[in-house]
Amino acid sequence: MSATTSVSNEPMNSSSFELRNPATGVTSELPVRSGTIGPQVLDIAHLARDQGVFTFDPGYSVTASCDSKITYIDGDAGVLLYRGYPVDQLAEKSSFMEVAYLLILGELPTAPQLQAFSDSITRHTMINESLLRFFNGFYHNAHPMAMVSAVVASMSAFYHDSMDIYNPRHREIFSHRIIAKLPTIAAAAHKHALGQPFIYPRNDLNYCSNLLNMFFAVPCESYEINPVAAKALDLLFVLHADHEQNASTSTVRLAGSTGANPYAAISAGVAALWGPAHGGANEAVLAMLEQIGTVENIPKYLAMAKDKSSHFRLMGFGHRVYKNFDPRAKIIRETCHEVLAKLGRQDSPLFELALRLEEIALKDEYFVSRKLYPNVDFYSGIIYSALGIPRSMFTVMFAIARTVGWVAHWLEMISDPAMRIGRPRQLYTGPQQRNYVPIALRKR
Ligand code: SDX
Repeated sequence: MSATTSVSNEPMNSSSFELRNPATGVTSELPVRSGTIGPQVLDIAHLARDQGVFTFDPGYSVTASCDSKITYIDGDAGVLLYRGYPVDQLAEKSSFMEVAYLLILGELPTAPQLQAFSDSITRHTMINESLLRFFNGFYHNAHPMAMVSAVVASMSAFYHDSMDIYNPRHREIFSHRIIAKLPTIAAAAHKHALGQPFIYPRNDLNYCSNLLNMFFAVPCESYEINPVAAKALDLLFVLHADHEQNASTSTVRLAGSTGANPYAAISAGVAALWGPAHGGANEAVLAMLEQIGTVENIPKYLAMAKDKSSHFRLMGFGHRVYKNFDPRAKIIRETCHEVLAKLGRQDSPLFELALRLEEIALKDEYFVSRKLYPNVDFYSGIIYSALGIPRSMFTVMFAIARTVGWVAHWLEMISDPAMRIGRPRQLYTGPQQRNYVPIALRKR
């Protein structure tokens, strides 16, 4: 099958690929569609009808599942834009609440708009007392991600009044509720694991200060929120807020495309994020650094990472899209220096080890040739640890931030009149049709 590009001198979006099937001689056109920036796409909607074939792309490395206006990534240039704004500018000048508004509504808010949005989020931070009692049912050492995904899914058992996905007001209430309640649910999971009493949200605190208070305050003494910690958390949430069609966001879109209620779709995203190949990597990085232990051990573990027979991978390294430095990793690495120094933890042995590991790996031909660089998960756990957040909660922190991106993508998909249920096909490699054999006649 040979494909030749017949690009007319009309505007870019009228070009097409001509496809000729050598087995049948059938020729068909594949329209080329252009976005604002980034690679064009081949529209294959009629490929099966015209040529009787599917495309094959396990892992969806080169498959555009939708068109979206939310986030753009240039993996070769190491660029990440939220609604067109570079993430490094937002990290320096914006806040998580402002970025949440931007990702969901598409524009930076005016001061009154931001105030109204933040106030609405603040007023939805409490969770139903019955939902809070769910935590009593979890085993004391349940993984926080197990508790959070279960409780988020259970939110659809409480909020029947706002689950009409075709009602814009219901969609808005859902968005504010889920963004507001994730920190409260996360804190409840943390307190359950500690065996400490749950600390209720406070409406006089901003989003990240409230989270720190719910995590670390105890009823028997006052808790002073460290502004350095609150600011570091806000920055990490900005950097983790969205990332185009990653595995968990694609999961939310696929689950949401069936018409499932939004809480169920978000809980599917939480479950997908948990995997160590995805959001679970931040927890795995700390475990790996503790396993490596010393700079002298680095060569041994790099050798294991290169040895295909070992299942060991350098966690926090590599990315499906970034074949250059993940811009978020660069910002987090710089933030590590500042936060550790301000918290008086500049002598963090794990941070020193991570820096040396990065330096040595990026001189190693295996990593260089495969364009494996540190990703967003490589340094984030260093900061979470410095803030006193336990390793088992790292992916929960990622889920809190990514809930904004999941909500933005769910809203974009649900309000698209062309939305259809997601239903990929396959290359079947199983047995030819055959007839049933009675058990008495089966031979093994
Ligand atoms: C996130 O998609 C997103 O946008 C995700 C995310 C987001 O914000 O949503 O950015 C967040 O999930 C970041 C990634 C966190 N995961 C990790 O840090 C886990 C470690 N990394 C890998 O497992 C891996 O790099 C992935 C999963 C991130 C990407 O996997 P790919 O794209 O399927 O790459 P691959 O497995 O095909 O690797 C290509 C080659 C292979 O070697 P060869 O077959 O060519 O010889 O690179 C090797 C891999 O073995 N490789 C690694 C490696 N990552 C890839 N070898 C050792 N250590 C690694 N970490």
